[in-house]
Amino acid sequence: MTKLSINGEERDIQMSGDTPLLWVLRDELQMTGTKFGCGAGLCGACTVHVNGVATRSCQTPVSSVAGANITTIEGIKPSPDTLHPVQQAWLDEAVPQCGYCQSGQIMSATALLAQNPAPSDDDINDAMSGNICRCGSYPRVRRAIHRAADKVAKA
Ligand code: FES
Ligand code: FES
Repeated sequence: MTKLSINGEERDIQMSGDTPLLWVLRDELQMTGTKFGCGAGLCGACTVHVNGVATRSCQTPVSSVAGANITTIEGIKPSPDTLHPVQQAWLDEAVPQCGYCQSGQIMSATALLAQNPAPSDDDINDAMSGNICRCGSYPRVRRAIHRAADKVAKA
């Protein structure tokens, strides 16, 4: 059994330690906000935070994150009634098209802004380069990240 801390809750995991975290989240814990895209570390759809760092859960054996603080898309709202500034900016900029990549995009964006509250376009392009969007939402993603950064700076 592996003990995990997910979104501030301790969870006992029954799946074997070499199971990718993505499958633990989706299949054992029914936390389906984190998406399966390629399963090969190439698309970023499965991005979560491990100790605040954007991490591909499809490439992360669950035993390797025992004791770490894991945050998923289900855990980024600061309170039940309040969206994270990145979520609000995503809505304001109407970022998603099909939506499939967007959980991973938001997790990468929130990790970026936690480390760099005023990123340039180049910073954003670098940080988001591993998140593939088949619908081409990249310009809206950039705008939304700038919008969230501005909002937090003014708050
Ligand atoms: S599903 Fe993990 S990087 Fe694509
Ligand atoms: S919104 Fe469709 S894949 Fe990104």
